[in-house]
Amino acid sequence: MGAAQNTGPVKVAIAGLGRAGWSIHAMGLKGRQDFQVVAAIDKQPERRAEAEQTFPGCKGYEEWKDFLANPNGAELAIIATQSVAHGPMSIEALKTGLHVLVEKPMAMNVKEADQMIAAAKKAKRILSIHQNYRAHPEFNHLKSIVESGILGKIVELKNSSVHFARRNDWQTLRKYGGGTLNNTCPHTIDQCLQLLGSPVMDVWGDLQKTITSGNAEDHVKVLIRGKNGAVVDMEVTSCCAVKQPQWLIMGTLCTLVREGDEFVIRYLDPAKLPPLKVVDSIAVPDRKYGVIGGETLEWQEKKVQAADPAYKLDFYGCLYDSIRNKKKLLVTPESVREVIRVIALSRKGTKFP
Ligand SMILES: NC(=O)c1ccc[n+]([C@@H]2O[C@H](COP(=O)([O-])OP(=O)(O)OC[C@H]3O[C@@H](n4cnc5c(N)ncnc54)[C@H](O)[C@@H]3O)[C@@H](O)[C@H]2O)c1
Repeated sequence: MGAAQNTGPVKVAIAGLGRAGWSIHAMGLKGRQDFQVVAAIDKQPERRAEAEQTFPGCKGYEEWKDFLANPNGAELAIIATQSVAHGPMSIEALKTGLHVLVEKPMAMNVKEADQMIAAAKKAKRILSIHQNYRAHPEFNHLKSIVESGILGKIVELKNSSVHFARRNDWQTLRKYGGGTLNNTCPHTIDQCLQLLGSPVMDVWGDLQKTITSGNAEDHVKVLIRGKNGAVVDMEVTSCCAVKQPQWLIMGTLCTLVREGDEFVIRYLDPAKLPPLKVVDSIAVPDRKYGVIGGETLEWQEKKVQAADPAYKLDFYGCLYDSIRNKKKLLVTPESVREVIRVIALSRKGTKFP
C-alpha cells in the first residue's frame, strides 16, 4: 500500500465530499505542494465528478470498499462522512495500511476510540483527528496567555457558543451520530481540556432538544472539574438569541474576556498586591465590607487581537511532518479519546444516552 512511500507529496483520499470533505479538506489541500488528492469517495456522482475535474489524476469511487480494494496510490484517508461512520471507516482504512485523518467526533464512544487507537498501533500507521481548532490562531493565542501565568491560578473557564438557529439536516438525527454534543462540542470540549491543563475529575452534563427537528440534542451544558480544582463551564446551544462572551476566564490575578475581535485582559501585578492577613474578630469596624482598613487594587488592562495570525499553525503541514518526518502529531488520538470520554460522561443521566 502507498503508505510505505517516504518522499514527495502525501497522496490523499477524501471520503465524503460535503461541507467538511469538500469545503474544508478538498479546498484546503487544493494548490498545496505537500499533498495530492488522488481519490474521492462519495455516493453523489456529481460530487465525484467535481473532484475528478478539480484534481488531475483523482479517481472517484461510489463505494468505500471499492476504494479500499484499489486505493489509487493513496497513503492517507481523510474521513468526512457521517459521524457514526468515523470509527468503522477509520479502522478499515488503518487495516488496509492507510494513515487516517478522521473528522470530529473521533468516535461514538470510548470503546470505539480505543479500538481505533489499537488498530493504528497494530498497523503502524498514523491516526489523527481533525480537531482543527488546535491550529487556530485564536485558540493558540489564548493558550499562550493562560500558560504565561498572568491569570494566576485558573478558577473557572467559561465557554459559550450560542445562537438561535433551527436546523433539519442529518446532524439532528441520532442514528447518524448527530446532535450538538457530537457536532460542535468536540471542538469546545477539546479546547477547554487543553486550556484546563489538568486531568479531568468530574463531569456533569445537561442535554435538551429545543428548537431543531430530529431526535438529537441541540442544547448542551457541560461542567468539568479538573484535578487542579479549576472548573470548565461550557454551553453550546441553538436556543439563545442573546450573545454571550465566547470566552471568560477567571484567575486569581486576572479576568480575561473575549470582546469582539479582542481578548480583554484585566490583571494585577502580584508584586504590588499587599499580603492579606485575616482579622479574627466577631465585629467588623465601622460595619464596612471588603478589606478591613481598605485597599485599592492597581488594575492593569490590555487588549490584544484574539486571532493574532502569529499564533496560527498549519494543520496539514504538521500532519505532513508527522507522516514524512516522524514529528509528533499535533492532535494525538489519545488526547481526543479524553474528549470522547468527557462526551460520554456528559450524556449520563440525560435523555440522550
Ligand atoms: N472540523 C470541522 O470543522 C467540521 C466541519 C463540518 C463537518 N465536520 C464533520 O464532518 C463530518 C461530515 O459532515 P458534513 O457537514 O461535511 O456532512 P455533509 O452532509 O455536508 O457531507 C457528507 C458527505 O458524505 C457523503 N457520504 C456519506 N456517507 C457516505 C458513504 N458511506 N460513502 C461515501 N460517501 C458518503 C455524502 O454523500 C456527502 O457528500 C461530520 O462528522 C462532521 O461532524 C467537521
